[in-house]
Amino acid sequence: MISTQQNSSSAPGAVASVRAVAHSNIALVKYWGKRSSVVPDLNLPAVGSLSMTLADLRTETEIRGADSDSFELAGETLDEGATRKVFMHLDRVWAGLGHPGERPTCAVRSKNYLPTAAGLASSASGFAALTLAAHEAFAGDGRLDLAQLSALARRGSGSAARSLWGGFVRLEAGLAEDGSDCIAAPLAPANHWDLRLIVVHTARGAKAVGSTGGMQRSRETSPYFPAWIESSLADLNGAQAALLTRDLPRLGTIMEHSCFKMHACMFATQPPLVYWNGRTLDVIHALWSAREDGLMGYATSDAGPHVKVLCSAEHAPALAARLAAVPGVEAVQSLSTGPDAYVERIEP
Ligand code: PMV
Repeated sequence: MISTQQNSSSAPGAVASVRAVAHSNIALVKYWGKRSSVVPDLNLPAVGSLSMTLADLRTETEIRGADSDSFELAGETLDEGATRKVFMHLDRVWAGLGHPGERPTCAVRSKNYLPTAAGLASSASGFAALTLAAHEAFAGDGRLDLAQLSALARRGSGSAARSLWGGFVRLEAGLAEDGSDCIAAPLAPANHWDLRLIVVHTARGAKAVGSTGGMQRSRETSPYFPAWIESSLADLNGAQAALLTRDLPRLGTIMEHSCFKMHACMFATQPPLVYWNGRTLDVIHALWSAREDGLMGYATSDAGPHVKVLCSAEHAPALAARLAAVPGVEAVQSLSTGPDAYVERIEP
């Protein structure tokens, strides 16, 4: 569907025609909660996070100059808010490049290659691809480096800051008011470790409470929020060490702990944030029982009911088969580590 926003038009020639591709990522050590800042619109996380970029799940975004702004998301219905966020983000990239005045108008077309069962976040790959594409479309002579692009992507969605790189990525929370030390960087490339992330879909449909609203509510009302924040740096450093030494039991144990702490903080929010359904717990119990049988998988889950299981490539087929057999499971996908995001020039 096409959604259009009128804006003052400018010469389409000022915009290069480009296509960017970014892959989705899943946090092994979670981010939940934003910190306040005197500078508006920075979207600074209250905790750092560590993620695995996923193969296959990706967003492709094209930008071309046009007489007016338009946004098309193939196969999906857009609300006005989503369209506004896209153009606000183009404005950020334009300003971030130091260009004066109004941004040239453009046509943006995106396609999400994400699972058929809905409810798996597309904001990470979406804002990462949009940032890369807009930067290439508007850059001219001055260019930003990847850390600066990641900081711009973060302003669209926190998890998007991690989707510029393949493999494993760490995003620092930082302390600076202006967000200058809130920076993401790659920890290890995709070929560092042959892991799988099995996505177990336990429902269809979009989540009830979006992550931005949920984080705000947890920060304001959850008595566990301070404990969640305080304990996260140890998880981050422990997970990084386990990743670099390829220690799956250690990484998996820290990952599960981070996930359960985040959900405990959500449960204790008022009104409670319960993103799980009954099947979510059934899958987690089935996973733990498989682990007792020697299939070493570890669970995580985000602001939604799906379970994501980290395991070795060797154990993935048997684990996927066991989890697919849990009653109510809609679909199971076994994904390997994904590549870096990229951008290319295309025909106008
Ligand atoms: O960046 P957002 O707004 O998509 O929030 C991401 C929050 C979690 O998925 C729950 C955790 C994370 O670090 O990705």
